[in-house]
Amino acid sequence: MAKANVVLGVTASIAIYKALEVLSILKKRGYAVRVAMTEEAQEMISPVVFEALTNAEVYTDVMEEIESDDTNITHVALAKWADVFVVVPATANIIAKMSYGFADDPVSIIALTTKAHKIIAPAMNTDMYLNPIVQKNLEILKENGFVIVEPIDGELACNTKGVGHIALCEDIVDVIESSLYFKHFEGRKVIITAGPTAEPIDPVRYITNRSSGKMGFALAKMAKFMGADTTLITGPVCLREPYGVKRIDVERATDMLDALKREISKAEGEIILIMAAAVADFKPKEYKESKIKKSGSEFVLVLDENPDITAEINRFAKENDKNLIIVGFAAETNDLIENAKKKIEKKGLEFIVANDVSRSDIAFGSDDNEVILIYANGKREKINKASKEEIAFEILRRLI
Ligand SMILES: Cc1cc2nc3c(=O)[nH]c(=O)nc-3n(C[C@H](O)[C@H](O)[C@H](O)COP(=O)(O)O)c2cc1C
Repeated sequence: MAKANVVLGVTASIAIYKALEVLSILKKRGYAVRVAMTEEAQEMISPVVFEALTNAEVYTDVMEEIESDDTNITHVALAKWADVFVVVPATANIIAKMSYGFADDPVSIIALTTKAHKIIAPAMNTDMYLNPIVQKNLEILKENGFVIVEPIDGELACNTKGVGHIALCEDIVDVIESSLYFKHFEGRKVIITAGPTAEPIDPVRYITNRSSGKMGFALAKMAKFMGADTTLITGPVCLREPYGVKRIDVERATDMLDALKREISKAEGEIILIMAAAVADFKPKEYKESKIKKSGSEFVLVLDENPDITAEINRFAKENDKNLIIVGFAAETNDLIENAKKKIEKKGLEFIVANDVSRSDIAFGSDDNEVILIYANGKREKINKASKEEIAFEILRRLI
């Protein structure tokens, strides 16, 4: 059973090959896909390629709609079948046609007919994209419920650099996927911390831990999917931020604390704060301005405790009249529940997500996790082993 049905509209941009990549990611993620192509797009890539990848006939001609017992390629049938309608890539031409209700090609006619979620990924030369006419047409589409996956800065086919490069395929598919989520957090602010912190010893060395940041990034992605205004404050990690999430990079625990204070100060209304970062408990007492050299004898590194960020933030929020809901994480190797309970009381948390980082199949670095939620009233709830995104969704669901 497919996750959902996606009609992929393909138009004649130089970025047309990206439609094949989006199609293949959609298939890998379990979506059923049907394709509609404009006449010009068919000149760039043969519909046969899309037919081979979808195992279905491509909708290519509004004057030759096919309806029989085993084939139903009409604009009405495809419009009804679709849960999501996405145009990848979207030319300036199709944007103009869709914004003014034209219906003389296989893509614009579905745009006009379907009640599905509508998403477009524009791709064009910078001057074309920034042309006020194109911008006005995009506004019209937005006002009519279309979601625009904004093009990015990059090398363009016309040998120039600038905005107009089609968005990353993974981001386009994430936007498609997110359209299927109920927007429980619309209008709400969610701040998430992620990754380790790095506490410098000298200009080339630092103390850190094994946190990959994957759990925090998964939380940010799901919070965004569920409609939140999402900010991710992360220590050094090798991950790309989810589409539409504001990312702030920090290094030390104290940098993370400062960034949190700044973001909380700016936010209005209730703020959900999820502290998924593995903040270093200790930092070198002294930072050496130049690289420490070997001296041929024992080297002693003296450590100081870092501030308790959650406790500091709680105090800061109270002093500044900010309404915070805080979820903490406890990464423990032993006495998981006892240690988590202590944290919850000490830090005034909504609940704590306890995970056992001594297991190699979950937690640090892994794509999966298994957690126990521990509430202030002592209630415990286990979320069985699942992907970090599924776990993130379950955590957020409890904050709706
Ligand atoms: C090689 C080539 C590349 C093109 N790339 C783009 C593009 O990236 N974006 C765009 O808006 N138009 C681009 N065009 C122009 C469109 O193909 C043209 O406006 C066409 O009429 C669009 O048809 P369609 O929107 O019905 O597919 C390109 C044309 C050619 C020949």
